[in-house]
Amino acid sequence: MANIVFIATSLDGYIADKQGKLDWLYSIPNPDNVDTGFNALMEDIDAVVMGRNTLDAVLSFNCDWPYTRPVFVLSNTLTHVPRGYEEKVCLVKGDLKEILAELNAKGFNDLYIDGGLTIQNFLNEDLIDRMVITRLPMLLGGRRPLFGELKNPLNFRVTISEILLETLVQTTYQRDKS
Ligand SMILES: NC(=O)c1ccc[n+]([C@@H]2O[C@H](COP(=O)([O-])OP(=O)(O)OC[C@H]3O[C@@H](n4cnc5c(N)ncnc54)[C@H](OP(=O)(O)O)[C@@H]3O)[C@@H](O)[C@H]2O)c1
Repeated sequence: MANIVFIATSLDGYIADKQGKLDWLYSIPNPDNVDTGFNALMEDIDAVVMGRNTLDAVLSFNCDWPYTRPVFVLSNTLTHVPRGYEEKVCLVKGDLKEILAELNAKGFNDLYIDGGLTIQNFLNEDLIDRMVITRLPMLLGGRRPLFGELKNPLNFRVTISEILLETLVQTTYQRDKS
């Protein structure tokens, strides 16, 4: 059972630029369309849990739906799943530990946790087991940071760190509770 973060950040730790956009993510040349881990992640997980803002961002891309697993979207404001996504998306809300207990009871054990505020909330409850962070060598200068304040410090072990596409530094951090 693992809650996994898989996310790209700028060198200064932002996950979206000042306009809230992700164009910078696609500025790294990748002529052979090398998969930097997303496809393998999809194979490893049972479901995705994301914040509503991340769903909005994905839907705004007008691309093919990227997820091959069920997606649970956290929201207090959405009253129904956007039209066309009823088979792919479920809405959930409330206490994160209760949501996780319900998902685990349904057999969704390995979860990809996505969205800035969502990841911060999970970390604040010490509910993240692994983080795969892909860092791009650029400074965005704001506005949405990956990390925020925490109730308690959390230690992680580095298990893998590698350079991808001669540009990206991808590091896997495993929560260390010892
Ligand atoms: N760099 C990357 O790899 C990457 C990856 C993912 C996202 N992003 C970017 O990050 C931004 C989105 O992140 P974000 O920090 O704005 O927000 P987010 O975590 O995607 O979504 C936050 C929203 O989730 C809902 N929420 C969170 N916890 C909840 C709970 N326990 N119960 C009910 N609802 C809950 C709330 O929605 P309501 O307001 O509906 O209540 C909240 O406003 C976008 O710009 C996106 O493009 C970047």
